Amino acid sequence: IVSRALQTDMVIPNWVTFVEKIRNLFNECKEIRDGQVATYIPQLARQSPDLWGVSLCTVDGQRASFGDVKHHFCVQSVSKAFNYAIVASDLGADVVHSYVGQEPSGRLFNEICLDSTNKPHNPMVNSGAIVITSLIKSKTNMADRFDFVLNQYRKIAGNEYIGFNNATFLSERATADRNYALSYFMKENRCFPKETESLTDALDFYFQLCSVEVNCESLAVMASTLANGGVCPITNETCVAPNPCRDVLSLMYSCGMYDASGQFSFNVGLPAKSGVSGAMIVVVPNVMGICLFSPPLDSLGNSCRGVSFCKKLVSTFNFHNY
Ligand code: DON
Repeated sequence: IVSRALQTDMVIPNWVTFVEKIRNLFNECKEIRDGQVATYIPQLARQSPDLWGVSLCTVDGQRASFGDVKHHFCVQSVSKAFNYAIVASDLGADVVHSYVGQEPSGRLFNEICLDSTNKPHNPMVNSGAIVITSLIKSKTNMADRFDFVLNQYRKIAGNEYIGFNNATFLSERATADRNYALSYFMKENRCFPKETESLTDALDFYFQLCSVEVNCESLAVMASTLANGGVCPITNETCVAPNPCRDVLSLMYSCGMYDASGQFSFNVGLPAKSGVSGAMIVVVPNVMGICLFSPPLDSLGNSCRGVSFCKKLVSTFNFHNY
């Protein structure tokens, strides 16, 4: 990297100009007052609507951060992308997709429905994500499974901040009726691997992974690992196998932004995943990973400032895929 930096052939050569433009986009989006902070659990309801952070990390390890980038927050549904990448690296796409499809559901993220073959539509909706987490080291005990995933997250994040918010986990578990209903419906339809005996364990694990904490900087590194074919740009370690890395980006592109996935692909043309905490990752393949964090959500559950930033990003730079 040093020799390339000296030769100024980093992936973003005009770094200073680039960062100034990103700063302007950050400031423009700071003025946005739209959206509502999620209220279904107190730990999310207490988040300040003013929090706003943007971090990016390029595949050459160039970094830039603006705003509340050290603030800890839960990954929530952003975990779905990484959980898929981790289990697909471990088991291969064929095994994983014998349980979960690849189609956008066209339904709400937590709707009780399956596709025409009685599988969850994709790994980015709750049904698919619950089955995906149940596939992770399914023959192992709960503690080791949690350790395994946390270690994988740490690798993907280049050993930057990864924590766990137990209060969020406990609240998620205490308000789990919909996810229980969804899981019993899936159990009836034989959606789970045969090792899954306890739906309580399956859902605890799913909620634990929603309750993993990051900050903008560490989540930007995680996104940059996906931008870099599964190799963490900070440590040079391969954390996600190449094909699962490609596959998760395809799924994020078609299904990552809830019911706004079609609009987002159309307008922004980049793979992304959002979560109910206001977290969002966006990947510019072979260029960089971006983390956006701002709790107020639009009516479809995506961060208002996050989505707005992405639209401005592709009108400023030619990052749209097409
Ligand atoms: O399963 C749930 O209801 C949440 N804990 C998932 C979080 C999330 O971000 C999903 N989406 N909106």
